[in-house]
Amino acid sequence: MSLLIGTSSKMNLTSTEAAAYLDVLRPLLADVVDRETFVLLPFTSIWVARDRLAGSRIRWGAQDVHPEDAGAHTGDVSAPMLADLGCAYVEVGHHERRRDHGETDELVAAKVTAVQRSGMTAIVCVGEVERRSFDEIAPELDRQLRLLRGCDPNRLVVAYEPAWAIGVGAVPAAPQWVGQAHAAVRDLLAGSAAQGSSSSRSVAVIYGGSVAPDGAGPLLAEPGVDGLFVGRAALDPRAFAAIVHTPVP
Ligand code: PGA
Repeated sequence: MSLLIGTSSKMNLTSTEAAAYLDVLRPLLADVVDRETFVLLPFTSIWVARDRLAGSRIRWGAQDVHPEDAGAHTGDVSAPMLADLGCAYVEVGHHERRRDHGETDELVAAKVTAVQRSGMTAIVCVGEVERRSFDEIAPELDRQLRLLRGCDPNRLVVAYEPAWAIGVGAVPAAPQWVGQAHAAVRDLLAGSAAQGSSSSRSVAVIYGGSVAPDGAGPLLAEPGVDGLFVGRAALDPRAFAAIVHTPVP
């Protein structure tokens, strides 16, 4: 599988700002043919991505979704609405949503099902909140992953994003740690009885948390890292393009 490198702008980029951003980014990524790239924007800016990225290889998507397809859910946005805007990816279960909106593993799993039902790929964020030993984080990852075992592996990406590595002031996890965590994600997704099953191997596992141009190479070189999920560094489209172009040593 080719490397998957994308960004969520989080609660940044008005539709006007998104247009300017994508107009800079698109030509910078025009030569990228061996990597999949995506940009996840706020709901209000997704139409701009459809407008500005049509005909390019850059895919676009959303940062959240409601688990039901339609109905009396004031202010919410459904998967069919996102699919209708041409979204290829929908992020689900980011740490900030679990923390700020009390999203549970059950709700996250229901959202994944909704995304897949509408023909899109769900990017599910998992990761430990506190920096702890590997043995201590495994149960936390298991709890976040176990409800995803029945999902369509072909429309699932897992983003390993330890909360302690996300955001201003944080530093990325060490590449070796990330490699170990990604192997654990694959095993846990397969279930202990079926470690390393072929379906769990087909799920891309990408890393997110303070990814920046200078640290991207060693992360991508780590076995089991299928790509990167970039936050604040990618608010500069040139930095995002530099990450996308990172040679794998
Ligand atoms: P960050 O965000 O790169 O700003 O740490 C990453 C994320 O939350 O996906």
